[in-house]
Amino acid sequence: MTTARQVDREILDAQWQELLAAASAARERAYAPYSRFSVGAAVRAASGEIYTGANVENASSGMTVCAERVAVWNAVSHGERSLAALALVTETGATPCGACRQVLVEFEADLPILVADTAGHTWFTSLAALLPDAFPRVNYR
Ligand code: THU
Repeated sequence: MTTARQVDREILDAQWQELLAAASAARERAYAPYSRFSVGAAVRAASGEIYTGANVENASSGMTVCAERVAVWNAVSHGERSLAALALVTETGATPCGACRQVLVEFEADLPILVADTAGHTWFTSLAALLPDAFPRVNYR
């Protein structure tokens, strides 16, 4: 990971700890029998509420949905329209895929992101760093 900044888990404040724990718990519920790569995501909405998601795979592989998008669908379908933070847990500490980056931009272009691996390492990055010069949300008001 090049742009992400590695941080000690102990320095995370209570809100990040809570979001990370939610992503980690969501990862346990991943449905990934094909790739065996479980992903857990948790978004904190601007309201303060946390919404989680896990990847859901399908025998027809193109139907697979990433954990981040499941978390965003969960937040938006509960009435949220703006996101404040994302935590993502994978075995490797992977960052969100390109498609999910674009979906996240829709709800907060400057989203802070915490990625973690299952060995206990954590890194801070941001959506602005991961998707510079993104196609922006069209103002719908
Ligand atoms: N996956 C995610 O859930 N999020 C990402 O950002 C990238 C990939 C999932 C999709 C699939 O179930 C598995 O990881 C392997 O690609």
